Amino acid sequence: MKIQIKSVAQISPDQSVVCLVGKEDIPSFCNLTRQEKGYVLKKLRDREDYVYVNSYYKFTYFVMINRDLPVYRVFEDLRKKAASLKKLIKSNSHTEIVIASDNSYDGVVEAFTEGLILSMYSFRKYKTQKEEEDKGSYPEKILLYGVNEKDKISWLSVLCEAVYKARDLINEPPNYLNASALAREIKKLGSQAGYSVEVLNKGKIEALKMGGLLAVNRGSTDPPVFCILEWNPVEKVNSKPLVLIGKGVIYDTGGLNIKTDDQMAQMKTDMAGAATVAGVMYVLGKCQLPIHVIGLVPATDNRPGGNAYVAGDILTMFNGTTVEVGNTDAEGRLILADAISYAGKYSPELIITVATLTGSAAMTFSNKAIAVMGNADEKYFRKLEEAGNEVYERVARLPFWEEYREMLKSDIADIKNVGGREAGAITAGKFLESFARHPFIHLDIAGTGMLKKDDFYRTKEGPGSALRLLALFLKKLAIESGKK
Ligand code: BES
Ligand code: ZN
Ligand code: ZN
Repeated sequence: MKIQIKSVAQISPDQSVVCLVGKEDIPSFCNLTRQEKGYVLKKLRDREDYVYVNSYYKFTYFVMINRDLPVYRVFEDLRKKAASLKKLIKSNSHTEIVIASDNSYDGVVEAFTEGLILSMYSFRKYKTQKEEEDKGSYPEKILLYGVNEKDKISWLSVLCEAVYKARDLINEPPNYLNASALAREIKKLGSQAGYSVEVLNKGKIEALKMGGLLAVNRGSTDPPVFCILEWNPVEKVNSKPLVLIGKGVIYDTGGLNIKTDDQMAQMKTDMAGAATVAGVMYVLGKCQLPIHVIGLVPATDNRPGGNAYVAGDILTMFNGTTVEVGNTDAEGRLILADAISYAGKYSPELIITVATLTGSAAMTFSNKAIAVMGNADEKYFRKLEEAGNEVYERVARLPFWEEYREMLKSDIADIKNVGGREAGAITAGKFLESFARHPFIHLDIAGTGMLKKDDFYRTKEGPGSALRLLALFLKKLAIESGKK
């Protein structure tokens, strides 16, 4: 579903409108009678989230702007209210709808629209029959009243489009989307958005001696891939690129340290980090952001086939480090480690990994925060936090002390891939850091990246976690560095 977003200068009397109100008054473009106005205002005063008036075929919905909240929470409140209203909007089957506000608060129309579009997503590709949810239809056109800046509209539209694309990739079942198919899909996204994609096949990966990726792949019948995505615009603010690395575990059975049914249930979403990276690159290309970024996606499934790697194996990684395998379910860090060493060849300004890496991060923060850690300059963490609040994909910092690295000591190899039950998210991050020769930040999206049920506009299974966060983070970097 492709939804068009456009700006409109005028609202005709027969158009259905969502009007966001922050003052105790109803704007005249809503064309309400005195009695209707009285009714709407009373409902809003009673703090109902929304009210609507139906005049023949036209609907006018009113949504309260909760101005008592801090700015970034005002926006989140509206994204959520949009998600709550979407069912009603769908049942009324508007072909187009106007989103407007009483001009009492800047940015609310965009936030509401974002929440509405993101909540309209569903993955129904493999349904052969119509169901209850298919009743009614969503508007194909969303008209923004009072938002005239082309840049704002295209940013919003591209961002939502990218999130849809990432969600599609994550939700696709592993029997339809193996590592090679993921690489093909990333190539498609690249050609749509204008970034280049090179795919290294198994032969090349063997020639490069990427011991981590190859070990995880050994139990699988499908070959691994290593994708290199690049957005390198002529005009750019950075001389050294940023490298984004996404975990592309197509399906995580745990390998021979096999997961139980409960733990395994959602493991098709273990490539959410890869989808996020492909989606962020899509935004950069489509919006032509003046920043040089490379995306790396190592991808394979993790299965217990006859030749599978085992606990006790010692691997030689791409950079020559030896790793004692303590647990085959700690596979994400092994494929990421090779990608992190590979990133060194670009002498990057910053390396960021995005991964559904540990149950520990999910246990700590649930789906409320992305765990963030690393050794890069504080300015990057501040920017991530700022961007995280704005898009409401908040990041929560974990300590990254050297003592945690000691938990990964091995008696027989340079390092072990597990550090014990305690501080699991941090030791995973420390493992990754030991392969980074450049400033490094790690985002663990295990809690936010896989959802059992819809969380307002974050749709279930793969909501596309960290995509809007990283897109805004890079945009902020591009704007700020451009000013200097
Ligand atoms: N993909 C999982 C992490 C995960 C677990 C994501 C639950 C979302 C929900 C990862 O590969 C994994 O299995 N990690 C293990 C590591 C352990 C063996 C050190 C974990 O966290 O239990
Ligand atoms: Zn695992
Ligand atoms: Zn995994």
